[in-house]
Amino acid sequence: MSGGTVNGAGPTPGGGAPGRAVGSVTGASAWTFDVAISVQKLSHAFAGADGRAAPVLRNIDLEVAKGEFIAIVGPSGCGKTTLMNLVAGLEPVQNGTVTVDGHTPRVGDRNVGYLFARDALLPWRTVLGNAELAMEIGGVDKAERKQRAMSLIADVGLEHSTHAYPAQLSQGMRQRVAIARTLATTPDLLMLDEPFSALDAQTKLLLQDTFARLWAHLSSTVMLITHDLSEAIGLADRVVLMSARPGKIKRVFTVELPRPRSIIDLPSEPAYHRISEELWHELREEVTR
Ligand SMILES: Nc1ncnc2c1ncn2[C@@H]1O[C@H](COP(=O)(O)OP(=O)(O)OP(=O)(O)O)[C@@H](O)[C@H]1O
Ligand SMILES: [Mg+2]
Repeated sequence: MSGGTVNGAGPTPGGGAPGRAVGSVTGASAWTFDVAISVQKLSHAFAGADGRAAPVLRNIDLEVAKGEFIAIVGPSGCGKTTLMNLVAGLEPVQNGTVTVDGHTPRVGDRNVGYLFARDALLPWRTVLGNAELAMEIGGVDKAERKQRAMSLIADVGLEHSTHAYPAQLSQGMRQRVAIARTLATTPDLLMLDEPFSALDAQTKLLLQDTFARLWAHLSSTVMLITHDLSEAIGLADRVVLMSARPGKIKRVFTVELPRPRSIIDLPSEPAYHRISEELWHELREEVTR
């Protein structure tokens, strides 16, 4: 096992979904855990308008345990998507190290599922055809593919639209199909970049809840980027707050709310308010800098 020890930016004992052994005690004080994502001393720069290298990320250290759900929040432009791209292998690492499951991340790794604000469904495929797509690419046989896709389509409440085309669906329905497509391959790692940000408030709440319910049956590690603090607190085991560009990790919040959680019922939890206030207080300093 590739183990890690808890530090400031590592998982905390008790994190993770119920029934998942995220940590186990070794020795007197240290916890060890299976590391899914390890980021060490990561710095990154892009060429600015004047052609000179402009720093985007500075000295990021982050370890994410297998099965852990982390949310990343921070001001616009602080490097959240860049960090995710580096972890996904979409962007070459310049300084520091990134490993996923102990290896240098590779583009096209089948064990990684993505979900973005825009669903990117294929317009010529039906709901079923789109839900089957990732499994088709992954070589899952036809009968199993259909059975899994149908089951997930029902899970996201689209059983009456199986044969509809994306153009016939609302944005929320399309995003449901994208969720079904992404979860159908039971990825080891899920990368979500503002997946619910294009939805209206009610649809967003319902889909966040649907996603949380479906994720609870998987063992996927999740890296979620969001600007929605209630989404971060409601879904994640830890919330990583980044500073304004160049992004550094400012603080890591452990969300000690029991699971299963209902995002819809969160406002009645005192712990939710406490984290929310502290998080917003620290984030505001960065947003207004
Ligand atoms: N390929 C690129 N070339 C040059 N600059 C880039 C590139 N990608 C991102 N940047 C710059 O890097 C900074 C961080 O971008 P990034 O997309 O990671 O921010 P973010 O935190 O995801 O922001 P948002 O919350 O608005 O999505 C921005 O200033 C952006 O303009
Ligand atoms: Mg972004």
